[in-house]
Amino acid sequence: MSDTNELLSSARAAIAGAGDPASLDAVRIEYLGKKGKLTELMKGLGSVPPEQRKERGAALNQLKNDITAELERRTESLNSGALDARLAAEKVDITLPPRPAPDGRIHPISQTIDEIVSIFGDMGFVVAEGPDIEEDFYNFTALNIPPEHPARQTQDTFYLNVTSTSPGATEPSPMVLRTHTSPVQIRTMMSQKPPIRIIVPGRTYRSDHDATHSPNFHQVEGLVIDTSTHMGHLKGCLIDFARAFFDVPDLPLRFRPSHFPFTEPSAEVDIGCSRKSGEIKIGNFGDWLEVLGCGMVHPKVIANCGLDPAIYQGFAFGMGIERMAMLKYGIPDLRTFYEADMRWLKHYGFAPVDMPSTTGGLAR
Ligand code: PHE
Repeated sequence: MSDTNELLSSARAAIAGAGDPASLDAVRIEYLGKKGKLTELMKGLGSVPPEQRKERGAALNQLKNDITAELERRTESLNSGALDARLAAEKVDITLPPRPAPDGRIHPISQTIDEIVSIFGDMGFVVAEGPDIEEDFYNFTALNIPPEHPARQTQDTFYLNVTSTSPGATEPSPMVLRTHTSPVQIRTMMSQKPPIRIIVPGRTYRSDHDATHSPNFHQVEGLVIDTSTHMGHLKGCLIDFARAFFDVPDLPLRFRPSHFPFTEPSAEVDIGCSRKSGEIKIGNFGDWLEVLGCGMVHPKVIANCGLDPAIYQGFAFGMGIERMAMLKYGIPDLRTFYEADMRWLKHYGFAPVDMPSTTGGLAR
């Protein structure tokens, strides 16, 4: 048996002496390769007398396991030695100045959407989306908007030369560029079971063009549908939102009775402001500024979506994103949002590495 002990100690010496992975591999071949020393001993097993063969076979197997284990240990220590050497050689110079910040900026519309979504996200709302090219049913009919309503007239709405037959209709009607984000209320109520809490940022289109109106603008819609939702929830939700968004903890809100075909009762919401010397400041200053529309979802709208208004009710609200951004960041002219002027974007834009937070971008 001493030949196996000898082979083990010579293998150990050779393994310890291998200083890099290549010479270690040479040792492996020398012992375990096809013509290796251990392999030769294995081949001799056939000529061992049968009564000793079992014991000899076990000893050779043990030897193979021992050498393999030694090889693995050495491989590991060579690798970690190589890592230590690299770590020692490749030092990071933490005194170097940082690379210049990237030149790009987040557009105030994107930033404002992120902030609004983040505040409602904290209240348990999830983002929902719908198509910009909408069917008459979702944009108007299901929202209880009557045929004579001005929003349906061509001077207010962009119609397409493409028609579609909406759910429940017999005649095809032209498709529209959605005039508000409210059609997503319908799409969501028709496809999801309450409870529903969605926040819907997106592009909207109206045939308007002047200093305070753009044919393409942005809205955020909110919708809550559940079995015990009331106007108190609507008010609390919007008060919390406005105070967080404008970062004014005592910001007063005024709910003014109004009318939308798809809510009943409906309200327009004003926030406190001052307009002294032409500059608008948000806060408890005695003056008022309208910022959004809201109301309890009309029972007809709930029924139009296949839900039972005797069981389900809730509230909805909608606001213009450009308007919110202009008020929060003091941007005076709506048209500048779409001019793609890099100087404007450098001034009003936000650093891309900034995390979207409720008040993170506040310019004060
Ligand atoms: N869709 C309305 C608009 O564009 C806003 C609104 C949304 C009002 C939801 C009430 C409820 O003016």
